[in-house]
Amino acid sequence: MSERHTQVKRLTTPEAFRDHVASLGVEIPFDDVVDPAGVLSTPTSFTDGQAGTLTAVNRFAVLPMEGWDGTTDGRPTDLVRRRWSRFAASGAGIVWGEATAVRPDGRANPNQLVMGERSVDEIAALRASLAPGQVAGLQLTHSGRYARPVQAPEPRTAYQHPVLDARVGAGPHTVFTDDELDELVEQYVAAAVLTAQAGFEFVDVKHCHGYFLHELLSGHDRPGPYGGDLAGRTHFLCSVVAGIRDRAPGLAVAVRLSAFDLMPFTAGEGGTGVPDGEGPYRHAFGGDGTGLGIDLTEVHQLFAVFEELGIGLVSTTAGSPYYNPHVQRPAYFPPSDGYRPPEDPLVGVARQLAVTAELAAAHPEVTVIGSGYSYLQDWLPNVGQAVVAGGGAAMVGLGRMVLSYPELPLDVLAGRSVDRGLICRTFSDCTTAPRNGLVSGCFPIDPFYKDHPQRVELTKAKQAAKARLR
Ligand SMILES: Cc1cc2nc3c(=O)[nH]c(=O)nc-3n(C[C@H](O)[C@H](O)[C@H](O)COP(=O)(O)O)c2cc1C
Ligand code: SF4
Repeated sequence: MSERHTQVKRLTTPEAFRDHVASLGVEIPFDDVVDPAGVLSTPTSFTDGQAGTLTAVNRFAVLPMEGWDGTTDGRPTDLVRRRWSRFAASGAGIVWGEATAVRPDGRANPNQLVMGERSVDEIAALRASLAPGQVAGLQLTHSGRYARPVQAPEPRTAYQHPVLDARVGAGPHTVFTDDELDELVEQYVAAAVLTAQAGFEFVDVKHCHGYFLHELLSGHDRPGPYGGDLAGRTHFLCSVVAGIRDRAPGLAVAVRLSAFDLMPFTAGEGGTGVPDGEGPYRHAFGGDGTGLGIDLTEVHQLFAVFEELGIGLVSTTAGSPYYNPHVQRPAYFPPSDGYRPPEDPLVGVARQLAVTAELAAAHPEVTVIGSGYSYLQDWLPNVGQAVVAGGGAAMVGLGRMVLSYPELPLDVLAGRSVDRGLICRTFSDCTTAPRNGLVSGCFPIDPFYKDHPQRVELTKAKQAAKARLR
């Protein structure tokens, strides 16, 4: 049986939290008192090389989170509109809109939004539904290795991978050709033009979580113009940005980046996560070559590329929810296709905070939004304030926490104590549900999803997963 970690909800005082963090041998910035008129309430700006300066009214950003709940032709449904209306009500300064495929076969699930002529007006209505003053972006994606546009996986890859190919049925036949990538560049630019037309202030050329452009960053062995050295591995990004500068000059460009990665993990003895193989491992962008360590040398070089391209906004994240979820989304309870956490999830939070702080300090021209805060639970505002005050990030990104508790930013900025009943306890149902073909939502806490008919199927999927990890 795997080690049981201390649940954050048991750390009921600042001292208990600090002591526990110290016992783990990691550092997490922490303020005992959160000041509603303090740094989290102050505005921050980012400057795009072409589109100019945009200002967020406070230091909270809603991170991109898709819901596996659009129509099968890529348009929003009432569930999508409900999610965005809750993001509007959060009071967060930035809403970073969810993964939206640049073409139908690039979707990660049959219900992902697709940016196209057919959907653009309804996606524009989503943007219009946000609160006045909220800065809005949209994340453009091709799911690459994790494309699943109908029911079965249809992977398209950057290169052949020794571990991950077998997991998704990829091989030489799934590797994109250079000609296909030239075409994909055009499709990103066309989708960005529509994103500008839909009223968004910025577009995110997504480079995270094992999806296509993240995978391309580790395409050392890929021959041709889109692989090899860092110039080759960023050729796609540079081409897309050049196209956007030309055809959508008023649109700012941002990047969501997995700023480091580790090797794939799998369930070992007692269901606890263990590395799936042994190093050396050269497929982790931001990794040190062992598969288990971090080396940011190339990541700093990538930030220099961002600066040259005039990209002024980056959201850092890490790893992938598919092959190392404990790195990407620290959680007490694993998703149904995951494994028990191999470390106290606060170690995962600290890892993301430290990497983000190093990048933010070294690249002051770029406004950096951090991620992975939800596992901090009751202490999220205390850590967020200390991080921003210390320059560890310009903004606090909120993922799962805004699914369970969208008004958290408003409560913090109004000086109200957090509502403990709404705090995300990282049950992972919002990940387990889509892994089982169901819509995503906060089934344990959000009353709407508590009553959702798919909760029955979700419970069955969770029971099966529990048995698998015994
Ligand atoms: C249901 C769900 C959907 C997500 N969808 C996306 C997405 O579309 N794009 C993306 O970059 N990250 C996505 N993420 C990752 C989050 O943006 C965030 O990085 C992650 O949840 C960690 O932050 P947190 O600790 O605040 O939850 C998703 C996460 C969840 C739980
Ligand atoms: S389902 Fe709700 S409580 Fe569970 S991880 Fe997602 S947002 Fe948090």
